Amino acid sequence: MAEDLTIIRSASKAEQYTSLIPQITALLDGEPDLVANLANIAAALKEQFGWFWVGFYMVKQDELVLGPFQGPVACTRIAKGRGVCGSSWAQATTLVVPDVEAFPGHIACSSLSRSEIVVPLFHNQQVMGVLDVDSEALDQFDDTDAKYLEEIVRLIKW
Ligand code: SME
Repeated sequence: MAEDLTIIRSASKAEQYTSLIPQITALLDGEPDLVANLANIAAALKEQFGWFWVGFYMVKQDELVLGPFQGPVACTRIAKGRGVCGSSWAQATTLVVPDVEAFPGHIACSSLSRSEIVVPLFHNQQVMGVLDVDSEALDQFDDTDAKYLEEIVRLIKW
């Protein structure tokens, strides 16, 4: 297992992801524990990109429950279809929200969050949870983030 991440700054977003993804693969290699792996993915993303909040919500019965994350304390439970996370789960699709105030039903865990991306975690065609990333900047996330974050969550071993 890698002990330290190599963080590259002042590179394009795609270059930052392509530097990080093999390191996340190495972090997960040989570790079967889901919580441990989700925790390290959240930490690695936070360290590389410095986003405001990075973490997981996991499907438990009929709601999402807060999982491993990096950043300020957050809401613990989100109903299916509610907020960006619950909508991503219900629609089983990645949602990029350039301005959270323009997203109907957005759940403001922090008033500092301005834009957000939520990526569902699939296993056997089921949504097992979501990766949620929040930024203090408007319009932080785009199709490049969607593509690479979807690649990263496919590394999760169930
Ligand atoms: N904003 C999210 C809630 C989770 S927090 O951002 C960590 C939402 O609308 O689902």
